[in-house]
Amino acid sequence: MKTLVSKISLGLSLLVAVFFAACSDNYPKIAGEICPGEIWPDTNGEHINAHGGGLMYYDGTYYWFGENKGERSSAALVGVMCYSSKNLKDWKNEGVALAVSEDPESEITKGCVLERPKVIYNEKTKKFVMWFHLELKGKGYSAARSGVAVSDSPTGPYTYLRSSRVNPGILPCDMTEADKAVMDTLNPQNYEKWWTDSWTDAVKKGLILKRDLEGGQMARDMQLFVDDDGKAYHIYASEENLTLNIAELSEDYQSHSGKYVRVAPTGHNEAPAIFKRNGKYWMITSGCTGWDPNEARMFSADNIFGPWTQHPNPCVGPNKDLTFGGQSTYVLKVQGLDDAYIFMADIWRPKHPIDARYIWLPIQFKEDGTPVVEWMDSWTLDYWKNKK
Ligand code: GAL
Repeated sequence: MKTLVSKISLGLSLLVAVFFAACSDNYPKIAGEICPGEIWPDTNGEHINAHGGGLMYYDGTYYWFGENKGERSSAALVGVMCYSSKNLKDWKNEGVALAVSEDPESEITKGCVLERPKVIYNEKTKKFVMWFHLELKGKGYSAARSGVAVSDSPTGPYTYLRSSRVNPGILPCDMTEADKAVMDTLNPQNYEKWWTDSWTDAVKKGLILKRDLEGGQMARDMQLFVDDDGKAYHIYASEENLTLNIAELSEDYQSHSGKYVRVAPTGHNEAPAIFKRNGKYWMITSGCTGWDPNEARMFSADNIFGPWTQHPNPCVGPNKDLTFGGQSTYVLKVQGLDDAYIFMADIWRPKHPIDARYIWLPIQFKEDGTPVVEWMDSWTLDYWKNKK
């Protein structure tokens, strides 16, 4: 009798749990649905902790890398997390791919700022290469460095190699002798006040580029992109976040080749997410308002080194002028599906960083090929099947 009663009460509590789970905003309504902005439980039932992230597809599995955020702090207290999935919906926590160091002398010591990690696979060296934005502990956002780490396995552990600013002593590959002569005349003392017309003009002509030439260019929010020919690029917010740089990586992806261009000088773009479709490069970025959302921007080019043309904000739907409350982080080309790309963004929660949310939305394309990101409360990968 006692067992019957306990069985009934167990059954009842299970029913109640399922009922509340189904009704709660915090649960995907149907298994398999991607619900932008809601809690996204991993296969252990815990909200995925991989912010400012990026995806990599390797050997039939997707790997999601991102920042491990704490309850109260956005600083790196753990390191870069890795999750794996075969279906893009159910994610298994693979643990810490790159751990911060307990050594206070390390550049990636616990408490540094380690943001927007991305991983790419190098076919030639068979190594997985991770790049990230690094700020040295206790120095705010002044270091503006890029860090790099490598591993023989997608999930890690990754071995930290080094960090630095980018391409010291090297000018953009599209800068002419005439452009260089103009830059050489710029005297910083004449441009101490920011945002005046003459300051803006001077920054476009290379005021900050020249300032940072010797030590290398600043690199904050960043992205990696591997092109069809196997060449890889590092795209980052440079020059005090005023200008984007697109820099080619070396053959082993572990350093820079020295070839780079500046994109949208003084445009104040960050959070670059880039993809290629039908031979055209598209890049979605944000403005620079810290953890607060702002209106997404979009650019296109026929050549990765430009020229890049700006287009209107691609977002459609409620809160479109604030990127639905998020900030771009990655665009994924879905394997095995025709013309399927997913726009990914973070809804930051600076007061409770671990509770930051993810926005994943399918990208739609207008007849002329222009991308559109339309808000959906929930969707599944069948979106593309049903479109056919
Ligand atoms: C954002 C940036 C984030 C983080 C944050 C810090 O603008 O996209 O990655 O650096 O600022 O305030």
